[in-house]
Amino acid sequence: MSAQKKPSVSKPTAKKPKKSSGAGNFQAVKGMPDVIPRDEAWWKAILEAGRSVAELHDFHYLETPILESAELFEAGVGAATDVVEKQMFTFRTKGGDRVALRPEGTAPVMRAYLEHHLGYFASPLKAYYEGPMFRYERPQSGRERQFHQWGFEIIGDGDPVYDAEIILATMALFRAVNVPTPALKVNSIGCKVCRPSYREKLKNYYRSREKELCKDCARRLEKNPFRLLDCAEKDCVALRAEAPIILDYLCQSCNAHFKSVLELVEDNGVPYEPDPYLVRGLDYYNRTVFEVWSPAAPHALAGGGRYDYLGEILAGRPIPAVGSAVGIERVIAVLKAAGVSPAHHPRARVFFVAVGEQAKRASLKRMGELRAAGIPVVEALGKRSLKGQLKAADKAKAPLALIFGQKEAFEGSIIVRDMATGAQETALLANFVDTVKQRLRKTNGRA
Ligand code: HAM
Repeated sequence: MSAQKKPSVSKPTAKKPKKSSGAGNFQAVKGMPDVIPRDEAWWKAILEAGRSVAELHDFHYLETPILESAELFEAGVGAATDVVEKQMFTFRTKGGDRVALRPEGTAPVMRAYLEHHLGYFASPLKAYYEGPMFRYERPQSGRERQFHQWGFEIIGDGDPVYDAEIILATMALFRAVNVPTPALKVNSIGCKVCRPSYREKLKNYYRSREKELCKDCARRLEKNPFRLLDCAEKDCVALRAEAPIILDYLCQSCNAHFKSVLELVEDNGVPYEPDPYLVRGLDYYNRTVFEVWSPAAPHALAGGGRYDYLGEILAGRPIPAVGSAVGIERVIAVLKAAGVSPAHHPRARVFFVAVGEQAKRASLKRMGELRAAGIPVVEALGKRSLKGQLKAADKAKAPLALIFGQKEAFEGSIIVRDMATGAQETALLANFVDTVKQRLRKTNGRA
């Protein structure tokens, strides 16, 4: 597999660790981190919050493949964007098809909307997705080559109420996981009617200051002058201060649309900051664009906007649409940095201890009874001794341990131990699940 243009990704990336490290001979591909159990509570918190917001707003689950035709993104996201020009993982399949690892989810969702005539399923269609995206970037904190997005899209209606709903749903997700002070930046980048005259004004301005531009901006000036507005180079940032702003060039209809969106967002108690330089890096946007930032992060946590022309590009007819995507890893990094605990509270679990062959043989069935009643069960049956298993029970921080030994197996009973107080009682196997439920209710505060 190779990324478009340089740098190549075909170099071997597996580094041999020192023999004594015990880490094996292979490492994850650069910029493509594993998601490991240590971070499980963060991931669950975000995924649960996303699902809950989606359900409250009636968004439907829409899963698209990780591979799409490369052309979908070249046409949909824009051949002159950084994402397509520099960051796509593109390759040919054995059958010769040119495909790409998806760098984002919006073009695939619109492709699926058209392919399955989802406008007949719901109008507008409200869809959500979650999954890995791939961009060949220089890996650094908050910027990976594989990262995960939570996305919301509303397709089939151009009413400003939907721009506002996307913004509100995105902010609700941040609220649900306790992101401290997420800052919403909003702008309008106009439409086909008003954008060309602004584009000309912008070009003229930058042409008149061409010598002061950084190399990248000098190159982008003719093809994509909007990108110059979000260049981070010091001289370009200084130049921007005198650049014309789009809000002065919006047509009446875009102006009214933008005003409605801002009013709706404000009415719903979400503070925002207008940012006339916010243009976004993907070509499909028109009218409303927005990003969510955190003072604790150097990159945006989420971005989105309206993309009424994507349908026209992909199917020859305009289909109003608006959406957003949240970068899950970036949100987790901000929460960790702020010392916020994950908003995921696992259900109280019980630890099942079985000692002796007979008890062990019957233990799977007993654990099955607990699981069937919705009680998560943890065990360390591989450890033979009672001591070893109780030690594991302590480590697992389960509020209750159930101890099932030879004597109990013979008598048809089981010991229920409160792990915090050490108090034990014997329950009959015939109704031990009810006893466990009652005891769990009592220990709930400590679970
Ligand atoms: P985007 O701004 O390119 O928009 O990405 C959305 C979010 O994905 C970013 O705000 C960031 O949190 C995360 N993200 C992007 N690149 C990386 C990376 N290399 N490493 C870690 N996180 C990253 C889109 O993708 C649009 N499809 C959003 C959208 C949906 N617009 C309309 N509907």
